[in-house]
Amino acid sequence: MSRRTFSIGNLGRVRGAVLTLLGAVCLVAAPGWAGPREQAKRMHDRLAGVPPTAGVLDAMAGLIGSGDALGAADLALANRAFYTTSLKNFFTPWTNQEQSVFAELNDYTATAIGIVRDDRPWTDVLSADVVYVGAPGVVSAPYSHTSNEHYRQLEQQRVDLSDPALLVPVPQSTLPGSQLSEDAAAGVITTRAAGEAFFSAGTNRRMFRFLSMNFLCRDMEQLKDISRPVDRIRQDVSRSPGGDSSIFQNHCTGCHSGMDAVAGAFAYFEWDSDQGRVIHTPGLVQPKHLINANTFPFGYVTVDNRWDNYWRTGPNANLGWRRAEAGGFGAKGLGEELAMSRAFSVCQVEQVFEHVCFRPPNSPEDAAEIERIADVFEAQGYSLRRVFAESAVHCMGS
Ligand code: HEC
Repeated sequence: MSRRTFSIGNLGRVRGAVLTLLGAVCLVAAPGWAGPREQAKRMHDRLAGVPPTAGVLDAMAGLIGSGDALGAADLALANRAFYTTSLKNFFTPWTNQEQSVFAELNDYTATAIGIVRDDRPWTDVLSADVVYVGAPGVVSAPYSHTSNEHYRQLEQQRVDLSDPALLVPVPQSTLPGSQLSEDAAAGVITTRAAGEAFFSAGTNRRMFRFLSMNFLCRDMEQLKDISRPVDRIRQDVSRSPGGDSSIFQNHCTGCHSGMDAVAGAFAYFEWDSDQGRVIHTPGLVQPKHLINANTFPFGYVTVDNRWDNYWRTGPNANLGWRRAEAGGFGAKGLGEELAMSRAFSVCQVEQVFEHVCFRPPNSPEDAAEIERIADVFEAQGYSLRRVFAESAVHCMGS
């Protein structure tokens, strides 16, 4: 994935060099030893991205000294920079095709940040009827379906996103001009930013691909399974590419059997580039789901927003699917299907770990810790805040 190439290939190497240098200095100064103050400082720097004030450093060191490292992490998580900078940089690559960190605050990132701040179940990110917006009057431009100006202003005016009076949750379905009912709104999936990035042009399959990368840590290549039923593969996919049906059988079906069946959830969505907004047409299948029908007329014809998860059977059963139903209608149910899987929990922990520890998990001890934190995540009502705290404690040094 290009995001990984970016973070490990570039940032990671720079950080690695800096850390090696620091490590060498530390080894000379105090071999292998980091006291509570060093641990507190490292934890704060890594969670908030800024150094602690003297008072916060003292308080965190005190908590670590008395055995309450999680309490110390909570103090760092109270810093506004955790929300406005650290979390913003963490989520931004999820919101565009290039997986670039250099993008404006938008309704996707603001909603993800708000869910963490309010410690709502992180599963809401893919299924809740919620979007976070600036409170009335905080900036001049109101939320708009056709522009990102509201969020641009929130960022440019450095509005404190950690303040619950300034960044507030509202149901997507109640936004003026919304085309979403409560049942159709599906967390970040149905935000404007996600629509622009993943519903524009194409065939809406891209939305699933990026959800899988960001929330299951798997690109299509890792989900490929040529043993799934082919009955949901759309008409636009040739059954004999280059005149060779074995290519279809041994290659194309690997992704399209499973992917076309889940991407059906998005059949009523389109990004209207003239208006610059997401279109949702309940009951009316968007033409992009029916294009190139003559490529293989006997292929699947999308008639509604039904989705089925064929990957529950076969090798991808090991993603740990736990939703009651393996299919349904619309993006919200599919969001639940992804968010309730074990793969989702482990994936979210892995990404936080890498963000907070400045390195991917790379030892059997790290792997066990990922599983433990994923267990805590689920047991604590899917608290992603807690995952940040637990990861910071694991990497604070000893
Ligand atoms: C590794 C997974 C994978 C395999 C294998 C694969 N595809 Fe796809 N295919 C995708 C994804 C993902 C998209 C959506 C891309 C996007 O819109 O960003 C897609 C889109 C398509 C589209 C729609 C293109 C458009 O936008 O109009 C067609 C047609 C298609 N694939 C045909 C095929 C054929 C034929 C094969 C076998 C030769 C094949 N695919 C193999 C993942 C795969």
